[in-house]
Amino acid sequence: MASSPLLPAQTRPFLPHVERFFARPEFQAHHSHFAERIAERANPQRHGDLPKWQTFLDALPSIEADQIRLDQDAIQIGNTDKLDATQRKQLHDALFGLKPWRKGPYQVFDTFIDTEWRSDWKWQRVMPHISSLTGRKVLDVGCGTGYHCWRMLGDGADYVLGIDPSARFLMQYNAIQKYAQDSRFDFLPIGIEDMPTNLSVFDTVFSMGVLYHRRNPINHILELKGLLKDGGEIVLETLIVDEANGGILQPEERYAQMRNVWSITTVEKTLSLLNEAGFKNARCVDQNTTSLEEQRSTDWMQFHSLKEFLDPNDITKTIEGYPAPKRGIFIAQK
Ligand SMILES: C[S@@+](CC[C@H](N)C(=O)[O-])C[C@H]1O[C@@H](n2cnc3c(N)ncnc32)[C@H](O)[C@@H]1O
Repeated sequence: MASSPLLPAQTRPFLPHVERFFARPEFQAHHSHFAERIAERANPQRHGDLPKWQTFLDALPSIEADQIRLDQDAIQIGNTDKLDATQRKQLHDALFGLKPWRKGPYQVFDTFIDTEWRSDWKWQRVMPHISSLTGRKVLDVGCGTGYHCWRMLGDGADYVLGIDPSARFLMQYNAIQKYAQDSRFDFLPIGIEDMPTNLSVFDTVFSMGVLYHRRNPINHILELKGLLKDGGEIVLETLIVDEANGGILQPEERYAQMRNVWSITTVEKTLSLLNEAGFKNARCVDQNTTSLEEQRSTDWMQFHSLKEFLDPNDITKTIEGYPAPKRGIFIAQK
């Protein structure tokens, strides 16, 4: 499918499926806004690695995925016994070239992408508590590679828009979508701040692992609210702490080695922010301390991971001395 003439020629190769997004009626009034933001974010002059990653995508063998399963722990795209030895190696090497793979796992034909995160464990904690996704139009803010978007489709969502400003995640999505060819899932390489402010079209909006990366938590929650239809559901997953002055821990420099963690809230504070934003029926449905089995280095993500971010003598603390990562899941209605 040719990609949108709305985008500059240099950006189009990285968004081979975006025409579908532009064809959807609910986004029509915002075409030029989206095109402008996408062009800025997926600009090969800004992201010097894009052309290199594109060579891995171009090296993916042309094969048809006969079997697709979106309702199991590893997203399965393609049947294992379809490929010859050359195709197997081409597939493995091209996908491996796009590493680090952080969110998954994926089974692509016989290549198992063992990602840094067992993202399926998060989905198992979220899924029992949310309103049925059947027939819903969903937005996943900060969707990473799109792992949870696939699971949302597997659980009945009608359409999922995933947004994430990471250009690498865009290319990993492109690799999976090359085989899945699923028109119900679009990915845009943009941040929440790039979304139009008057687009209240989604039945469910997910923000998982994003709130603490935003400098102003209430603003983030209000941005999410603006994207929901009346009566729609917000699913907010974020780092939490048991106690903090004023309900918000603001790490001085780094938190678990991350430089971009601005605010970690208590459960009470998170609920009060949701109430302040005007949400109804706000509740915390799950609290979970991240385990060394859920986030770890693998062949597909060879950098340091949670183990190296915790105090080696006391894994209840980060190496900076803050409480170790614990995450809460919050749900509310607009
Ligand atoms: C901790 S990861 C969470 C990924 C996934 N939602 C999950 O729960 O596994 C945070 C994600 O938010 C993305 N992100 C960072 N800033 C963002 C922003 N301003 N708008 C949307 N996403 C953002 C990052 O690129 C990253 O993929």
